[in-house]
Order: sequence, then C-alpha cells, then structure tokens
Amino acid sequence: MVFGRRAQQALEMRRSGRSKAEVERATGSTIGAFDNSFDVNRGEIFVIIGLSGSGKSTILRAINGLNEPTEGNVFLDGDNISKMSAKELREVRRRKIGMVFQHFGLLPTRTVMDNVTFGLEVKGASSSERKKAGEEALELVGLQGQGKKMTSELSGGMQQRVGLARALATQQELLLMDEPFSALDPLIRRDMQNLFLKIQGEVQRTVVFVTHDLDEALMLGHRVAIMKDGEIVQLGTPEEILREPATDYVERFVEDVDYAKVRTAESVMVPVKEVAYLNEGPTVVLRRMRQLGQSHMFVVDDERRLHGLVEVEEVARLAERDERELRAAVDDGTPKIERSTYLREILPLFVEHDVPVAVCDETDRLEGVVVRGALIAGLTTTAEPNGEESVPFEDEGRHEGAVLRGSEAEQETDGRA
Ligand SMILES: Nc1ncnc2c1ncn2[C@@H]1O[C@H](COP(=O)(O)OP(=O)(O)OP(=O)(O)O)[C@@H](O)[C@H]1O
Ligand SMILES: [Mg+2]
Repeated sequence: MVFGRRAQQALEMRRSGRSKAEVERATGSTIGAFDNSFDVNRGEIFVIIGLSGSGKSTILRAINGLNEPTEGNVFLDGDNISKMSAKELREVRRRKIGMVFQHFGLLPTRTVMDNVTFGLEVKGASSSERKKAGEEALELVGLQGQGKKMTSELSGGMQQRVGLARALATQQELLLMDEPFSALDPLIRRDMQNLFLKIQGEVQRTVVFVTHDLDEALMLGHRVAIMKDGEIVQLGTPEEILREPATDYVERFVEDVDYAKVRTAESVMVPVKEVAYLNEGPTVVLRRMRQLGQSHMFVVDDERRLHGLVEVEEVARLAERDERELRAAVDDGTPKIERSTYLREILPLFVEHDVPVAVCDETDRLEGVVVRGALIAGLTTTAEPNGEESVPFEDEGRHEGAVLRGSEAEQETDGRA
C-alpha cells in the first residue's frame, strides 16, 4: 500500500531493494505497508504491533476496504475485498466486519442503547430484534440497565464499553480494533483488556487488534505480528516472539517486557498429586501428611472441588482431640486463582499468605498449584519452569515442593473415610 501519485514506481523501486526512506525521497510517495502476507484464523485474536507510522492502521484499513491496496489482495471467507465495488464492500462491512477505534465515535446525543444498536438500525433490524441484541451486548460489557443514559454522562471507560458493546451487538464475525484502549488510563485499560478477553471467550469472534503496547499485544494475542517500516518483521505466538526474536530489532523491542504482565498461572503451575478429602478424618490425613512430609494439603470433595487448605499442626490438634471431622481445620480463605491469572496478580498472594496457591477451573475444581519458587522463576527467565525442577530455592523446595512430590501413582481413592 503506497500513498501518493507515483505509487507503482515506488513499489518497483522498493522491490528492487532500495530502502523505504530512499524510495520515499525519490518518489515523494509514502510506503504505508509493503510485502505483507498473512492469514488470520477464525476465532483468533491476531495482534499487529509496531511503532507509530509502521503501517498498522494501513493494513487494518485494507482489511475492510477503506484502503485499496496498490497491489495485492485481501480475502474474507474466500471473497476478494480488494476487488469489490463500493456497494458490495458496504454490504460486506455491514454483514461481516465490525470496527472499533481508539475513540469509539459514540453519538453524544443518543442514548447508550441507541448507540449500541446503531449498527443494527443501519442494517434494518426490527426494534424488538435491536432491543434484544442491545440488552445482551450491554450485559456482556457489564452495563446492563444503563441503556437509557446518554453516552455523554458516562466516564471514558464506560464509553469504551459502550463502543465494545456496539461492535458485539451487530454480530459481525470479524472485529477490527485499532488501538481501542490506548486512550484509557492504565488501570481502566487493564480492566478493559480483561473484560475483552472474557467476552471474546464467550463470543469467539475473529479479531484483528492493533496496538503499540507490547504488554497488551502479548497478553491479548494468540499470534502477534511485529511491524517495522511497513513490513512484518516477525509473526508468531507471544511465546515464540519472546523466546526466539527473529531479528535484532525484535529482540530490542521485547527486551524490557514485563513477564509478570504476560505470563499466566498456566505457565508455572504443576499438578497436585496429593490431596485430602473433606470426608476424611484428621487422623488419616495427618498420617498421610507425615508420610509425605507435607506441611500443607489441599482439601477437596468427591468432585475434586477445592474447599481449602489444611496445615499439619492444625490437623494434629484435631487428631489429638479425637475429632472425627477434618472440617474445623480447613482454611477456606486460602488463595485461589485460575489458569489465566497473570503472574503479577499472583505475586501479592505470596506476600499475604505464605502457602501454595491453588489453581482451579471455573467450577472450583482443583487443577494445579503454584509455589513461590516456580513463580519467581517464571518472573525472571524466558525459560518455562517445568515440574519439580521449577523450585529453585532449596529451603522453599522442601517446604512447598513437598506438596507436589509424593508418589507418582494416582492415589485419589486411597484413604477415603
Ligand atoms: N491516507 C494517507 N495518506 C498518506 N500517507 C498515509 C496515509 N495513511 C497513512 N499514511 C502514511 O503511511 C505510514 C503508515 O501509517 P499508519 O497509519 O499505517 O501507521 P500506524 O502504524 O497505524 O501508526 P500509529 O501508531 O501512529 O497509528 C505513515 O508514514 C503514514 O504517514
Ligand atoms: Mg494507526
């Protein structure tokens, strides 16, 4: 995509090996993007990142036909966007492509609901259809019941949610997002990123997301394309980009990335081999803890739902008093996270409670554990910590690593009361 009158000539010069700057000087044209080729998979969040002027928006606008490429094609479901008439293009945009901008472009004189359903109105949807889709979309972004407000009455973060709701309400399956969160302050921005991921988990749109923020790119993207001077210099998963930067440029670009913001619990968690069951007695559990040399043990029910953590001395006290139930020793306030929790959110948990952190699924089933050593390893190295070797600190290894070791054999049915 070359801007300017001598576009064709500029392309040829660039192809023959002259640099972007040279070509631009010689022709007076601007090379927006050059020689880029990639596929976006259905349901994927595809992130384009690069410095200002690197060509991100140029590519995004080519995808929905706002830019007509000087050369090359854009296909959507097999249809060539770049060859469509204006009328066909409008139709495809209306049906299939939603767009969210840095400033959402809300209409200040309309209500929240009218803004959200604006796209549907243009499409000619009936008012009951609009109301239903609008309410669903507002619910998704956490603004249920706010439809009657004027958008001008909302805070920046809330307006951004309305914009997101509008893009979701239209049901277009491809969402193009051009720096949608960059105008927000960092805290609200993080909320929006999390909200966006949560919604995306539910609606599974295909998203092309432009940003100049590396942490945001690595956090949101299934794959990330890094652009420099109009060209993609690397395209890969966040993990690949961090571990194997393709060029010196990428290496410098990712140098100061904050792992705490990028890595999730999944990358540092390990399986929990030994648990106590809620219906077991203290004496049985105490015996097992002593055999395994564990100071703590997670307590689950028959469906492996987490009820909390017991500490060996508490269990011993119950056993001494001949108590039949473990329940009184169970600390149900023990920290609990999900696979997708970021390491930066886990770190404070170790400051507050010096115990292993349980990783559970959305139904509270115990899936794994994060121990302090593995967490710290995950924060400081590019290498993925794995299994027992992930506990680099001897003293902690003995204390918390013991939670993980135990016998290799699955013993979930052993020792139940
Ligand atoms: N309509 C246009 N006419 C002329 N030049 C343009 C046009 N649009 C973009 N450019 C130029 O193309 C290059 C790439 O611009 P683009 O907007 O794609 O960058 P970007 O990566 O989105 O940057 P930013 O992060 O600042 O939004 C820039 O040099 C820009 O000046
Ligand atoms: Mg841009």
